[in-house]
Amino acid sequence: MPVWQNVARNSTNRFAVPVLNSIAHAAVLGQAARMDIPWLLDERAHAGAEHLDPAFVAGYDRKQGWPDPATDIAVFQAHGLDAASTIVDLAAGTGQFALAAARVFGRVVAVDVSLAMVTYLRDRAAGHTGSRPDIVQAGFLGYQHDGPPADGVYTRNGLHQLPDFWKVLALDRMAGILRPGGVLRVRDLIYDFPARQATEVFAGWLANAAHDPAAGYTASDYAEHIRGEHSTFRWLFEPMLAATGFEIVDVEYDRQLYGTYTCLKKS
Ligand SMILES: C[S@@+](CC[C@H](N)C(=O)[O-])C[C@H]1O[C@@H](n2cnc3c(N)ncnc32)[C@H](O)[C@@H]1O
Repeated sequence: MPVWQNVARNSTNRFAVPVLNSIAHAAVLGQAARMDIPWLLDERAHAGAEHLDPAFVAGYDRKQGWPDPATDIAVFQAHGLDAASTIVDLAAGTGQFALAAARVFGRVVAVDVSLAMVTYLRDRAAGHTGSRPDIVQAGFLGYQHDGPPADGVYTRNGLHQLPDFWKVLALDRMAGILRPGGVLRVRDLIYDFPARQATEVFAGWLANAAHDPAAGYTASDYAEHIRGEHSTFRWLFEPMLAATGFEIVDVEYDRQLYGTYTCLKKS
């Protein structure tokens, strides 16, 4: 019998958060169990074709820019994380955060579903002196954490690759990785406006986009994001965090489009 049927059968309330935990944990039992779950998402197929392309990955940092990871590192430190702490960076990409964080925290695990990203990050990390992140090719739903529970989870601009149902399972998986009181720091494109303002907000976004696709995200990139990726509304995202056991302790938005959350896993 498929694992997920056992989970549903043993549950008294099929909508309860523990069921999400159980289904997601079933998803990480390994390849054999995953093959038993016919509805499990193919995370690579949803990763964004460009992220699987070595040529795009080679130019990713120039296009993305170099946001300073110091702010995110300082937030984890403000919540007590230090040289003894473990942080998992999910959808780590080229490792802008993970490489810097590995110099500060005890263990950093950089996880990405794309082989091209992971290969690039491994090469880059090899050139770094000092502590380096562990690098794992896996998805939000498939990553299997080993060792003690993590003290922090970081994820930037990757969660929107997942449709909302899967986003909730991914957040639930993050809660499963963290110790009670552990810190989740999420940065992502999340829409902080009512539906009727979508045309106006997106018009402003596209108008200020880059012109050179090698040097930034263009209006065409943003339009493709809106059409084909899964950024959600703030008023949907925050209940997802609550339903998966997180307390939001800080939130900021930039241009009604870019959300930054610091959350604590409830005990
Ligand atoms: C826009 S990049 C962000 C990379 C990095 N976090 C940053 O901020 O520079 C999105 C990343 O998410 C990864 N990704 C997409 N879907 C994923 C999934 N289901 N699980 C893990 N990583 C995923 C992609 O391979 C890509 O590296």
